[in-house]
Amino acid sequence: MVLFSIKKQTPRSPSYVFPSIIGLALFSLTALLLLYKVDDVVSRTGTVAGHNLEPTPWHVFPMKSFPEETRQSRAYRIIQCSYLTCRYSSSTHERRRFEAANGASSSPKCPDFFSAIRRDLEPWKKTGISERHVAEAQKLAAFRVVIVGGKLYVDWYYACVQSRAMFTIWGILQLLKRYPGLVPDVDLMFDCMDKPTILKAEHQNFPLPLFRYCTTKEHLDIPFPDWSFWGWSEIDILPWQEQFADIKVGSKKVSWRNKIPQAYWRGNPDVASPIRTELLNCNDSSKWGATIMRQDWGEAARRGFKESKLSKQCNHRYKIYAEGYAWSVSLKYILSCGCVTLIISPQYEDFFSRGLIPKHNYWLVDPQDLCPSIKQAVDWGNEHPDEAEAIGRRGQDFMESLNMDRIYDYMFHLLSEYSKLLQFKPTPPSSSLEVCVDSVLCFADEKQRGFLNRSSTFASQSLPCTLKPA
Ligand SMILES: *[C@@H]1O[C@H](CO)[C@@H](O)[C@H](O)[C@H]1NC(C)=O
Ligand SMILES: *[C@@H]1O[C@H](CO)[C@@H](O)[C@H](O)[C@H]1NC(C)=O
Repeated sequence: MVLFSIKKQTPRSPSYVFPSIIGLALFSLTALLLLYKVDDVVSRTGTVAGHNLEPTPWHVFPMKSFPEETRQSRAYRIIQCSYLTCRYSSSTHERRRFEAANGASSSPKCPDFFSAIRRDLEPWKKTGISERHVAEAQKLAAFRVVIVGGKLYVDWYYACVQSRAMFTIWGILQLLKRYPGLVPDVDLMFDCMDKPTILKAEHQNFPLPLFRYCTTKEHLDIPFPDWSFWGWSEIDILPWQEQFADIKVGSKKVSWRNKIPQAYWRGNPDVASPIRTELLNCNDSSKWGATIMRQDWGEAARRGFKESKLSKQCNHRYKIYAEGYAWSVSLKYILSCGCVTLIISPQYEDFFSRGLIPKHNYWLVDPQDLCPSIKQAVDWGNEHPDEAEAIGRRGQDFMESLNMDRIYDYMFHLLSEYSKLLQFKPTPPSSSLEVCVDSVLCFADEKQRGFLNRSSTFASQSLPCTLKPA
């Protein structure tokens, strides 16, 4: 905003008005001041790409660099994308109210696991969420999301690793596009790093509402769909609807019976995860019925991700899921394979994993007795192939039913229930900036833009699914 008032004050042609040395000096001074001001604004503007933001202090990661740009082109880009794009963007002007083709009564019931939304928000049921709650949560947040009148405003505090912030914000913008006029005003704090931080035991008297990608039974953090549903461009993981379809096709190349009758895990064991380290000991196909492979993402990138393709990793009857530094985005891809998913007793939960039922759509593995427990599952399945195959299929069906429609519905209901608890009227803070579809695209590099484009949505023809009344 500062920018525009400065521009207007700039004399259009001062050297014409004062054709003198003084005039020229004045002009250079104004120009200098203007440049200085612009520079100042630019260097203080946090962006969806991570400009001018430090990594989160509670989870440090390498500082982002924007090496391809000169200082000038970077300044131009920040002004263009952050301050000008949304003003002139066509999409923000079409303020169409949502009109469902059918009445609300016809919308289907939400999946059972949506009831977790109410459990997650239970701590604020009696007190509501005050401005102080949100302000306190800011201390552990990377950014603040304020939605007012269907427009999105973001206040940046810290950078997020890779393109998490960009794809998360994109997801929220798509939700606004999907249900125009339906998403209520909200004001919420978001942290984009892996580990939950709001311990129940420490915050009983004054619970802090903080959104992130996962939580645990001991934490109050509110789980929200992770960025990879809209794509993870750095490691070539496609937006969810395409990625699921791709894995499903891949999984059908060999029938379950004809898959290798063993357990398989492929991932990065070097993420400070004790369980993944221990898993390396189970790498013995004859003794433990398991193959454990190291995924080197650097190497995979150099080879164009051909061998790491998720659709080519459904060749074993059993697939192991092991948590990483916290929860792992890999759960959804593993379940999508239609193999029996062996989940090593998880500590973390994400928004959808609350819908998983042991022996129904996955198999629980005991971390205390890891390798024998894997072996036992493999032996059981090979002796009961019909039942094992059915567990695998139900896991895949569960992921298929979790399509993008349901994910937007989950986000919609979560934000709606959250907004009902707010004790104040959300207003964008003066330090925030509007973020719109075009401004995110404006900051995206070519590869990211391709992913964003592919996960772009449009206004829904039907209302969100119906959440069971409280
Ligand atoms: C596990 O064993 C296989 C076969 O012996 C080997 O190729 C692979 O590198 C081993 N995995 C790890 C993580 O050492
Ligand atoms: C986005 O996708 C559409 C078709 O799906 C294509 O025509 C368009 O060029 C794409 N835009 C970008 C920026 O990739």
